[in-house]
Order: sequence, then structure tokens, then C-alpha cells
Amino acid sequence: MSRAVSYRPNTGAKDDRYFMLPHINEACATTAQEWIVEFNLNPTGYEDPCAGSGEMTRHWPGAAAYDLNPEPNQYGIEIKQRDFFKHTQPYTPGLFMIMNVPYGYGSNAAIAFVNHAADYADYLLVVVPATWERGIYDNRINPYFHKVASKLLPENAFYLPDNNNKVHDVPSVMQLWVRKDTPRAKTVRRTASDIIEVRRNKGSALHRTPDVAIRRQGISAKSANEIITKNFNELTKDNYFYIFIKKGLKRKVMAALRNIDWMSIASTNMTVPGINKTHVINLVEQYIAAR
Ligand SMILES: C[S@@+](CC[C@H](N)C(=O)[O-])C[C@H]1O[C@@H](n2cnc3c(N)ncnc32)[C@H](O)[C@@H]1O
Repeated sequence: MSRAVSYRPNTGAKDDRYFMLPHINEACATTAQEWIVEFNLNPTGYEDPCAGSGEMTRHWPGAAAYDLNPEPNQYGIEIKQRDFFKHTQPYTPGLFMIMNVPYGYGSNAAIAFVNHAADYADYLLVVVPATWERGIYDNRINPYFHKVASKLLPENAFYLPDNNNKVHDVPSVMQLWVRKDTPRAKTVRRTASDIIEVRRNKGSALHRTPDVAIRRQGISAKSANEIITKNFNELTKDNYFYIFIKKGLKRKVMAALRNIDWMSIASTNMTVPGINKTHVINLVEQYIAAR
């Protein structure tokens, strides 16, 4: 099957050729092996369809390895040339795919890669843009795959083989998706709950006075827990969410807003660190429910 994908032109990495640094890989493999035990998985075979120089593959003895442009490697792994999008194979129960995928524009290559692999395998260990952690692409992934675990990669996890092995930073996350018999529920975007309503004031005057405003974009360690309760009209309007709290819940919601670690959520964004309305509602609900 051929799927139209495009790669980002400005990374210095043709076809998204950035490879994972060995020490990051080792930590990822250890975590993935722990997940296999924790979730009681039964892999029957391993395959890396975008192996590059075999950085990930080498931790999975016996794994079949392929790449559009296989890179010679010192690990003794035979990586065969193959365009994954032009390739089909039968569905193999228990097949475990190991994939630090090409990301492409707006994750288009990553989504296509993951869905193509989902046609053949039961387990998908993927390294994808950190934005995936925000659930924004979930509805575009094969619904029979459920994300069971994830781990953010540290900064500077990659290098560029075509640019003097220069260290390369792309906010990324490793996730494990497992096929189940039932499809996932659709991820719903939320703007209001029984506790709060979250609005974005797109440059117009505020018609109702909110209870509180929090930064939604450009979140830094310094501004992460900045809570604004007055002079709302003086804010740079588009950088904030305005929150309206349901009657009687102000004390609880304010405690939640002050104590949630917004920075760690915001930093999963690829460009400007930020959060969305669904994050605010879900996190406030979870915080209050846990107390
Ligand atoms: C982000 S790199 C990861 C490489 C390796 N897995 C690692 O972790 O170091 C993505 C890899 O996908 C390969 N690739 C891009 N498009 C592909 C395609 N259509 N079929 C197979 N491999 C592809 C690139 O050549 C590149 O090696």
C-alpha cells in the first residue's frame, strides 16, 4: 500500500533520518522489556520496519530489520532495503513492531507508519512526536490499538547521520500500543465540565468576568503556575485560558490549578510549550477526584 506522506524539509535529515543515541536506546529497550512483563505480553517475533542503522533493533535479538535507506552499522545487523509504504504482509498474531518512525509534517508520516504496522502486528512500540502524549492524534490511529504505556524521551535524544552526527533535539515520546478485541472510545475534546468552563478570548472583550486565568501558551518554568484573578482585560488575551468555576467549588479548583504540574504537560508540545482546554478540564477533575 502506498500512502502519501511528506517529510519536514528543514531538519537536515533526509526522509527524517535522525537516529537515536545509543545510551537513550538502551534506556528505552530496558523500559520496553519491563512493559512486556508488566502487561503480560506474548510476542511471537520482532520487526523494525524503519531500522536506520539498527540503533533500536540491536536490543531485540532476532528482529527482522528494514529501512528505506539502510545505514551500514557496527552491530552486525542485516538491514534490508524496503519502502514500508509499498510493502504488504499477512497479519501475524503476536508480532511486535519496534519503530522509531519518520515523523513527517504534522505527524503525517508517523500516523501513516503506525497505521500501516497496525495492519500486521499485535504490539506497536513507537517513538513519536511528544505531542502524541496529548492525545490529539488518537482518533486517527487504528481504533483496535490501545495505548498502555508511555515515557517521554530526554532532550537531545538523536543524532544526524547526514550532518556529522550532530546531536539533534525533537521532543519525543516512546509509547506502547496493544491490539485488543474492542475498539477505543473516541477522544473527545472538552470545553466544559460540571466543575469548570474553559474559554479562550480570541481578542474580543470579555463579556463575563472569569474567576481565574491561566497561561495556555508560552508556558515556562517561571510562568507555569501563574494564576491570575483580576485585571483580566490587561492580559495579552490570546495567551490565556479564562476559567469560570461552578458555584461552591472555587476553593477546590484554585488548589488544583495551583498544584498541577502544568510545565510537564506543556513541554510535550513540539514548538511553543502549551496546554489545551481538555488538559485543563481533565487534570482539574482528576486532581479533585483524588482528594
Ligand atoms: C527517525 S529515523 C529512526 C531510525 C532508527 N530506528 C533509530 O532509532 O535510530 C526514521 C527512519 O525511517 C526511515 N524511513 C523513512 N521513510 C521510510 C519508508 N517509507 N520506509 C521505510 N523506512 C523509512 C528513514 O530512512 C530513517 O532511517
